[in-house]
Amino acid sequence: MEFILVTPQARPGVALIQLNRPKELNALNLQLMGEIRDALKELDEDEAVRVVVVTGNERAFAAGADIKQMAGKTAIDMLITDQFSTWDAIRKFKKPLIAAVSGFALGGGCELTMTCDMIVASETAQFGQPEIRIGTMPGAGGTQRLTRAVGKARAMEMVLTGEFISAHEALAAGLVNRVVPVGQYLEEAYRLAAKIAAMSPVVARLAKESVNRAFETHLDEGLHFERKNFYLTFASEDQKEGMAAFVEKRKPAFKGR
Ligand code: CAA
Repeated sequence: MEFILVTPQARPGVALIQLNRPKELNALNLQLMGEIRDALKELDEDEAVRVVVVTGNERAFAAGADIKQMAGKTAIDMLITDQFSTWDAIRKFKKPLIAAVSGFALGGGCELTMTCDMIVASETAQFGQPEIRIGTMPGAGGTQRLTRAVGKARAMEMVLTGEFISAHEALAAGLVNRVVPVGQYLEEAYRLAAKIAAMSPVVARLAKESVNRAFETHLDEGLHFERKNFYLTFASEDQKEGMAAFVEKRKPAFKGR
């Protein structure tokens, strides 16, 4: 891997993917996105990994898709390159993904945080979809996910003016889970990840799928999907263990089976 660093056990059960193109503010070129896809494939297959944290550095999570790589392309080049296939792979990742964000999360960088399941931000984090300033618009889900996260009025303003919002504005708008001082954002993401890593991974997978369905379908279909996954948890040893532990007043030991 040239543009990312992967630590499969950064904490027990928690892997870290760190974007590592610091001079370019972690601009997301095709190779970097391919590396994330390949790393996630391995982490999905690694049973010891239960949650993945994705981060950048203090100055930038990622300042967007690589403008220099895209600048001269035609629409047909873009179509053939099919750059969003890597994004589809991230979207389909089965385990919980937490973005630990400091500094710029712009354009594709903001979209990558929103493709994750939760966002922990440092006080210096800035979120934005500034594509309109360079004559284009979000292409990796920004118009859809931002609108679902923060509502139409604010999403429309961000997408049409390209202006950024601060970490605290993002928290108030419901885009991020929590904001912490800059020295603590990664630790805080690990803390959140550790809580989830202590749960049954099979149930976490079914629950993640079900929450995501809320954004992908209508209520009736979503409720149906949720119910099936709820019933499916009763086929797991972890459900038996979790409920037995409650009755016996002890901590459950989940096995992922
Ligand atoms: N692509 C390629 N290179 C980038 C980049 C990007 N998205 N963002 C920053 N860089 C590079 C800069 O070109 C610069 O490189 P050089 O030193 O070689 O010139 C280096 O990173 C540092 O950047 P700046 O000197 O610009 O740093 P700054 O602190 O003055 O400004 C910034 C920071 C406001 C983030 C500014 O860099 C910026 O506006 N970046 C572009 C943001 C943007 O438009 N993102 C959307 C991209 S399109 C997209 O993402 C489409 C999609 O939906 C998938």
